[in-house]
Amino acid sequence: MIHAILPPEVVAVTDAELGLDEAAVLASLYPVEAEQIAGAVAGRRADFAWARACAREAMTRLGVPSGPIVRGGRGMPVWPPGLVGTLTHTDGLRAAALAPADRVRSVGLDVEPHEALAAGVLEAVSLPEEAAWVRAISAEMGSVHWDKLLFTAKEATYKAWFPLTRRWLGFEDAHITLVPDLRRGAGRAGTRQDDHGGHRDDNDDATTVITGSLRSRILVDPHAVDGGPDLLVFDGRWVVRDGYIASSIVLGRPGVDSVGP
Ligand SMILES: CC(C)(COP(=O)(O)OP(=O)(O)OC[C@H]1O[C@@H](n2cnc3c(N)ncnc32)[C@H](O)[C@@H]1OP(=O)(O)O)[C@@H](O)C(=O)NCCC(=O)NCCS
Repeated sequence: MIHAILPPEVVAVTDAELGLDEAAVLASLYPVEAEQIAGAVAGRRADFAWARACAREAMTRLGVPSGPIVRGGRGMPVWPPGLVGTLTHTDGLRAAALAPADRVRSVGLDVEPHEALAAGVLEAVSLPEEAAWVRAISAEMGSVHWDKLLFTAKEATYKAWFPLTRRWLGFEDAHITLVPDLRRGAGRAGTRQDDHGGHRDDNDDATTVITGSLRSRILVDPHAVDGGPDLLVFDGRWVVRDGYIASSIVLGRPGVDSVGP
């Protein structure tokens, strides 16, 4: 599902593609990684290891030697020189998305189950105008859990932001807009093909595929520490599919052709 929301420069791998069993994945951790996760519960160790196995497969596909991916300051994954990337794990799905650093400045990806946020969480993770918008569109288009989508867009924003700034970004520090893709073309009743090859079905079931774009407007000091331009606006994509909802942000390098999917 995540491949649909990432441009070709970004190599995405999910756990289902690996054809590995969990024992092999756990055994493949580098000692420095195993040490970082040694005290965690089994589920967390498995998520950590699967996400890294996905990342190493992405490195192989990018033609670079694979190596350890440790957790750096504030949990940021530390990539081998020349790479940028992002990891995510949720119930039943772990994934990595990596790209060459000379083409892509930063990537953020977040995947969650496609379910409503728990009561009260929307207010905690949104600006008042975002929450009002979510309530309005939810009444109009109930096939997407817009509250969860907003949440994934914020987390993807943070994952793209942090490596470039090394600063915290709170949920109130970026304003998100979400736009579903315009749907054109014929399909079976209730299903239409969108501009990006995705499909939308008006029934809210696990086979529904809905895609769209997102924009995060940064509301705090946008200074980056990587020597690149200020981080004023992040553009990204989102998808609902197979019971999951995912958001991606990809920041291209100035002077490199657009990295839109
Ligand atoms: C860090 C955070 C975004 C992770 O999201 P999550 O849904 O809890 O977890 P996911 O499984 O999707 O992602 C976990 C991965 O995020 C990555 N991550 C953690 N901290 C990170 C950071 N500071 N910068 C970049 N990536 C980070 C790690 O790779 C981690 O995997 P690992 O622990 O196996 O290495 C979240 O826990 C958090 O702290 N959110 C608050 C900040 C925020 O979202 N602000 C909104 C800004 S608009």
